Amino acid sequence: MDLLRYDFGYEWPWTWGHAIAALVFTVCAVGLYRARWRRAGAVFALLAVWAVAGAVIVNLVMRFSLPIVLPTERFLAAGEGRVLDAGAGSGRSALMVLTARPRATVTALDIFGAEYGIGGNGPERLVANARAAGADTRLSVTVGDMRAMPFEPASFDGAVSAFAIDHLSRGDVEKTLAEMARVLRPRGQFLLLVINQDAWVRTALPFFVHHGYFGGRAYPDRWRAGLEHANFTVVEEGTQPGTLYFLAENGTTSGTSGKTDGGHD
Ligand SMILES: C[S@@+](CC[C@H](N)C(=O)[O-])C[C@H]1O[C@@H](n2cnc3c(N)ncnc32)[C@H](O)[C@@H]1O
Repeated sequence: MDLLRYDFGYEWPWTWGHAIAALVFTVCAVGLYRARWRRAGAVFALLAVWAVAGAVIVNLVMRFSLPIVLPTERFLAAGEGRVLDAGAGSGRSALMVLTARPRATVTALDIFGAEYGIGGNGPERLVANARAAGADTRLSVTVGDMRAMPFEPASFDGAVSAFAIDHLSRGDVEKTLAEMARVLRPRGQFLLLVINQDAWVRTALPFFVHHGYFGGRAYPDRWRAGLEHANFTVVEEGTQPGTLYFLAENGTTSGTSGKTDGGHD
């Protein structure tokens, strides 16, 4: 059971918040019904149903407590290579690559800042999760800033970044995409995942106000333009619950050739 196998460390308001709210709303609903305040009881019963749905969406559909599912089989289709995970955090995106591409190695880069929802964010939890997946021998961790990456040019065959770049300001996004292009080899693939305020997010996290680039709104055109400005070509884009993804190739000039939609919007 992967929920028990891994600890991605997202703080309790994210992972347990809805479950706690469901309990409180249920107790209130029962109490109000017993006191014959049926309408108020019905409102709390509805809130309890929403909270249960929110717990399922956050933990199992949007997978805050599970490794991310690779959104496209086209990423590193050869199955091997050196992959950078920029803003790796506790490892959901690194494990996405390590488990889907068992001959690839991953270099996890993170500044390990405290304010990104992961309690005690540090390399130890990331390594422990890779060990739980039996993949720690293919993982190395570098503490550093993705806006000025501590790697030589063309060091990687592929790169991913999940829910990290969209925390940055517009200028820092541009810097980071330029750095990504520098450290990837020519035609190397970059898989970018950003938050998408779709129906899943709006249902489970209606008060979620995301900071950083675009204030949390997903503007596919602007992300595509940012990638192209950094000399990437977007070859596929699509959605997963709560997620917008782009698969881009480094230093190529042909136009967008694929567009998919997981149908979750
Ligand atoms: C929301 S977490 C996402 C972690 C992981 N990719 C996931 O999907 O669970 C964002 C991560 O980006 C990292 N981060 C933020 N700014 C960074 C920077 N300038 N350089 C490197 N990492 C950064 C944070 O430390 C944090 O671990």
